[in-house]
Amino acid sequence: MDLFEWQAKELFAKYGVPTTRQTLVSTPAEARAAAEQLGGPVMVKAQVKAGGRGKAGGVKYAATPADAEAHARAILGMEIKGLTVHTVLISEAADIGAEYYLSFLLDRGNRAYLAMCSAEGGMEIEQLAVEKPEALARVPIDPVAGVDEAKALEIADKGALPEAIRDQAVNVILKLWDVFTGEEATLVEVNPLVQTSDGVVLALDGKVTLDDNAAFRHADVHDAYRDNSATDPIEVRAKEKGLNYVKLDGEVGIIGNGAGLVMSTLDVVAYAGESLAPGGAGAVRPANFLDIGGGASAEVMANGLEIVLSDPAVRSVFVNVFGGITACDAVANGIVSALDLLAGRGEELTRPLVVRLDGNNAEEGRRILTEAAHPLVEQVDTMDGAARRAAELASA
Ligand SMILES: Nc1ncnc2c1ncn2[C@@H]1O[C@H](COP(=O)(O)OP(=O)(O)O)[C@@H](O)[C@H]1O
Ligand SMILES: [Mg+2]
Repeated sequence: MDLFEWQAKELFAKYGVPTTRQTLVSTPAEARAAAEQLGGPVMVKAQVKAGGRGKAGGVKYAATPADAEAHARAILGMEIKGLTVHTVLISEAADIGAEYYLSFLLDRGNRAYLAMCSAEGGMEIEQLAVEKPEALARVPIDPVAGVDEAKALEIADKGALPEAIRDQAVNVILKLWDVFTGEEATLVEVNPLVQTSDGVVLALDGKVTLDDNAAFRHADVHDAYRDNSATDPIEVRAKEKGLNYVKLDGEVGIIGNGAGLVMSTLDVVAYAGESLAPGGAGAVRPANFLDIGGGASAEVMANGLEIVLSDPAVRSVFVNVFGGITACDAVANGIVSALDLLAGRGEELTRPLVVRLDGNNAEEGRRILTEAAHPLVEQVDTMDGAARRAAELASA
């Protein structure tokens, strides 16, 4: 998970990395109040998960609270690299003497960590790496040994950070390393790390990527910082139910067991949709990816159906199951119970469901569904045929 600047710097502060005081706001009036509270000049900074905000006009200096309000009004709602600005950070403005660059990242290729450091901060690091690679020091870090004082000094030295701030730089490097390891990040980047005109070293920007695979060890931080506004609301609810769901743009809801089967189901439905619409205009398409996995219980099936049907664009649903360890009769019973479960929750099925059962105990599974005789459930025995029928129903 990538963090916003305000989150990254909140973590920095928690670990004792020197940075500026800050307040996150979402209205111009709040920006003014925050600037008043901080006292003195502030920066108004667009909070989007993208670099180059300064160049895009999303970072402005405000000498007074009134300026902060005006800048916030201009920046809120702005689009930067396709991302809409919903919040701005009001941050104390530092009097910058010099700008440096510092980062820790995971170096997968070398199975190690890597520190990068440069006395030429401020500009985008990709640009620096291309235009002046000699100014960007790359210092490998043994993952077992980590970063001690000697290593921190080596990083500062190779990055040619000035002698006068060496002690402060070493302190910042050690503390950023604590952030990197303590939060199990795969990236911690500070650009710019600055020296103020009175010689104090501060982190003015922060970019942190947390390792999602370690989220269970840091549930508090991950839960607090997760940004659901950028994710489709149906995907958010699916995730809460532990479902592997991805929202797509079409009309045919898809449920299958096994990621490979679901992927190929998307293909056959897209193909069927297109072949029904000569020229392709108005062709129906898959509405989602949903893999309910091997042991498709009634509850998982009910949750899956509920999630898929909560997408108002869905006009038919294709349930494509290949019975394996969980045999088709179990899945068929699951579907029947799921429909009952949904009806019980007041979410009676109102859109047609096409079911294709194949594999282990397919005959018995089909018999169960036929017997249940739900008016909106149809069975088709082949995958292509079922895809075509679901597409037909969605185009009707
Ligand atoms: N708190 C601050 N005080 C003074 N200048 C700042 C402050 N924050 C950012 N800046 C200036 O704005 C530039 C861009 O801000 P930054 O946070 O690095 O955003 P981005 O990297 O997305 O452009 C920085 O390089 C720095 O010169
Ligand atoms: Mg920056």
